[in-house]
Amino acid sequence: MLEVWCNKMTKSSAISGFYKFTPKERLSKVKEFADLTDEESTILANTGALSMDVADRMIENVVGSFPIPLGIAVNFQINSKDYLVPTAIEEPSVVAAASYAAKMVRDSGGFHTSSTTPVMIGQIQAVGIKDPYAARQRVLGAKAEILKKANDQDPLLNSFGGGAKDLEAKVIRTTQGDMLIAELYVDCRDAMGANAVNTMAEAVAPMIEMLTGGKVYLRIITNLAVKRLARAWCLVQKETVGGEAVVDGIVNASAFAAADPYRGTTHNKGAMNGIIAVVVATGNDHRAIEAGGHAYAVKNGAYTTLSQWEKNSNGDLVGSIELPMAVGLIGGAVKTHPTAKVCMKILNVKSATEFAEVLAAVGLAQNLGALRALASEGIQRGHMSLHARNIAVQAGATGVLVDQVAERMVKERKVRVDRAQEIIKELSTL
Ligand code: MEV
Repeated sequence: MLEVWCNKMTKSSAISGFYKFTPKERLSKVKEFADLTDEESTILANTGALSMDVADRMIENVVGSFPIPLGIAVNFQINSKDYLVPTAIEEPSVVAAASYAAKMVRDSGGFHTSSTTPVMIGQIQAVGIKDPYAARQRVLGAKAEILKKANDQDPLLNSFGGGAKDLEAKVIRTTQGDMLIAELYVDCRDAMGANAVNTMAEAVAPMIEMLTGGKVYLRIITNLAVKRLARAWCLVQKETVGGEAVVDGIVNASAFAAADPYRGTTHNKGAMNGIIAVVVATGNDHRAIEAGGHAYAVKNGAYTTLSQWEKNSNGDLVGSIELPMAVGLIGGAVKTHPTAKVCMKILNVKSATEFAEVLAAVGLAQNLGALRALASEGIQRGHMSLHARNIAVQAGATGVLVDQVAERMVKERKVRVDRAQEIIKELSTL
């Protein structure tokens, strides 16, 4: 047992030349790293096709399933632990950029992370209150009874140390007059928590109506999960990132994005490229992460970046990120989608907070990968080779022709379907 544990602890995610292997060879490396069973690796080898039965139980009006590529980002070392990161995304370059950035960070000591307790907030909206400010005090005065009612809904969550821990109430001015919004703070432990929180919010609603004399309408979790934050930071030595000029370029890119929401949105999109791909691969709710992240980016009144890049006194690059991260190890599709289950096993996280921290690190890596390219050779070179392969396939290339056509187009800097068709014709007549 101890041997298995030690073996797992010493496995490295820095798998040299991983991108050069065939998909089958890569899968076998992943199988070995994550101790996947034959059945689990077959699930991945089947490219994630979902049986009609499983799909039909997940959503309504099912007619099929929609597979997207699943890649593995390598080189991740977070708090001295190695991770292979399953990444489901349709966009070329993302997995390569994350792996490259993780390698740079690894060579400088890896990612460091932290997080808050996994607290989600449930909102209960009461309207038509004659004395909203006094009503607020009546609600807060009944905190113990309200929390008890909420916790009675989920003894299991309580048994794991979670549950409703606190209550806030605020009066807001709206076009429909003053409203009282009661907010339940629920420690969701390893669940994303939407079901638990919504159930609790619905259960306490009659108490809020009684205490306020108003009418309750909405009883729902907020995705602006400001009490469930994940953070990651890293240092990259200037030599590793390409020299002091590249460090300066990245720091200037970060400052540009922090000051300008047009650039800030794209900067954050770069981080989301990594985060969302992992959230999708693990069957979590990616819309919740997107909505929460972008709202958090505007928490001080103006939209800004979720990450910052600075130069330290040694001239090295230092990056950090903080954002809401409402993800779980249980619930939703995490335990029902066969591929998501295998991806969770590959990721090998032991708690929702560890998972959230890994996601923050992946976001920071992805952001670094994009900024390094933007601040040096530009983003197109990396993008173009994979894009060119897609264009070659679109133009009708198959087999070895795909790479030959793609290479020619990249060399000529003419990545277009019409040019691909010309090259195919030319190569086919040889
Ligand atoms: C493309 O998907 C993401 C980037 O635009 C991010 C960025 O500009 O920082 C490259």
